[in-house]
Amino acid sequence: MSAEEMHSVYDTILILDFGSQYSHLITRRCREINVYCEMLPCTQKLKDLKWKPKGIILSGSPYSVYDPESPHVDPDVFTAGVPVLGICYGLQEIALSHGGKVEAHSQREYGYAKIKVEKTGIAHADRLYDGIEMEEDGGLQVWMSHGDQLTSLPPNFMTIASTPTSPFTSIAHKSQDIFGVQFHPEVSHSPKGKEVIAAFVKNVCGIQGGWSMDSFIPKEIARIREICGEKGQVIGAVSGGVDSTVAAKLMHEAIGDRFHAIMVDNGVLRKDEGAKVHEMLTKNLGVNLTVIDASELFLGRLKGVEDPEKKRKIIGNTFIEVFEAEAAKLEAAAEKELEEKGGEAKGKIEWLLQGTLYPDVIESISFKGPSATIKTHHNVGGLLENMKLKLIEPLRELFKDEVRALGRLLDIPAHLVGRHPFPGPGLAIRILGEVTKDQIKILQQADDIYIDEIRAAGLYDQISQAFVALLPVKAVGVAGDMRTYDQVVALRAVSTEDFMTADWFVFPPQVLKKISSRITNEVKGVNRVVYDVTSKPPGTVEWL
Ligand code: XMP
Repeated sequence: MSAEEMHSVYDTILILDFGSQYSHLITRRCREINVYCEMLPCTQKLKDLKWKPKGIILSGSPYSVYDPESPHVDPDVFTAGVPVLGICYGLQEIALSHGGKVEAHSQREYGYAKIKVEKTGIAHADRLYDGIEMEEDGGLQVWMSHGDQLTSLPPNFMTIASTPTSPFTSIAHKSQDIFGVQFHPEVSHSPKGKEVIAAFVKNVCGIQGGWSMDSFIPKEIARIREICGEKGQVIGAVSGGVDSTVAAKLMHEAIGDRFHAIMVDNGVLRKDEGAKVHEMLTKNLGVNLTVIDASELFLGRLKGVEDPEKKRKIIGNTFIEVFEAEAAKLEAAAEKELEEKGGEAKGKIEWLLQGTLYPDVIESISFKGPSATIKTHHNVGGLLENMKLKLIEPLRELFKDEVRALGRLLDIPAHLVGRHPFPGPGLAIRILGEVTKDQIKILQQADDIYIDEIRAAGLYDQISQAFVALLPVKAVGVAGDMRTYDQVVALRAVSTEDFMTADWFVFPPQVLKKISSRITNEVKGVNRVVYDVTSKPPGTVEWL
């Protein structure tokens, strides 16, 4: 199914992103109720869209609507005859563009609030809270996060919910399907927020749903075939991680042998990873795989580099170079075969497969806002500017757990689907100083013990991601009767739904004890183990 056909089969919600850190959660909530949606920057003009949305949601934003730099919604949004729901800044945009007044609140309102829904008796306006059961006290708990608020209603609008401090917490146009909510229904701290979004999508927009991960597969396979044409060939990196494995399997289903999976040993992989991945991919998935040992090239370029962003860029760029060289080699081999054996000419290798996920896209290249570049994930922002290969990213719309669901649907074995993610720049962003062979060896050994013990304790599947970071500091210790002066490693384990926010994992103390004892006894060069108790935010999952 092409993207255009997708829109004609599934009613689509358009989410216009004004840069809020929560924007992606609106997408998520729509998908959870089996509704197809697409999020585009708020600068998107409706007239330039090739499809017609069945409803539009305006996200929140870090801006104030009066800020001279602030982004504004395309006025066509309000005249297209499509229902609109504005969230937080979205509500303020609606109010401002219809003649209401928005002012700075004396204090930023942040946290829980109880709203009281007011029945207006006007059927169309009451649909936003229709069917939502109120709590015992008659209110609804919601999450607020705003500095400005609406202080006077625009003409033709009415209040449909309020709080004691915010009389216009939720508003509706008297005759058109335009709604605004000051709170954030998309966050889990608004327990019934998903129902409010569902009420808008289903009651107001009249979308019944029906989109699911099952429908993603044929759609994406068709899109890949359309992009690649009859003969186009694709080269793609596989790392043994869930994302690249799922992307590779999808590619294999779509274009068979025209997809060439390449595993590059960049020298900063986990212990024995190259061999393990080779076996997994060839044995379990039947994907045609070439393993390239480029470790000397990568380590040579990483010599003396400590800056995390530089490490990412070097690794990202070197990856592309290695791929381009491999693509040229494959093409030369195909030409030689044609000369020698005749037959039909193969297409060019024009595409590079990347297993980029939605959170990578948001964190690397979001519309200006707090979610603007946090790290240049190498598979999104760190590519060569003059790269010859074009990118193909079948998972770009998906969250991690959605990729796992997709993996299960594609019959990828459970132990592969359940693997913790591993970043493209590998151990280079877990060594906090210079990346040397000695440092890699220490980290590989410590990490291997850590994961081994987590598995032995039966905790692997409860943790979203666990790894060791090697710190560039030395501490004094004692071994036998001898003073030691060795390095410190930090253990990290997090639980998270989508890696945008994360909590540190609470280990049973005896598990940490065993891990620490094994690492300090078995790994030469480490005499101290610390556990990282930082959530995201303010930390990130990786240390670099
Ligand atoms: P952060 O550290 O940004 O990590 O909170 C969130 C998730 O992304 C992974 N990560 C990366 N993945 N290239 C990748 O392919 C990168 O440069 C990169 N940096 C972080 C990280 O392991 C976690 O799963």
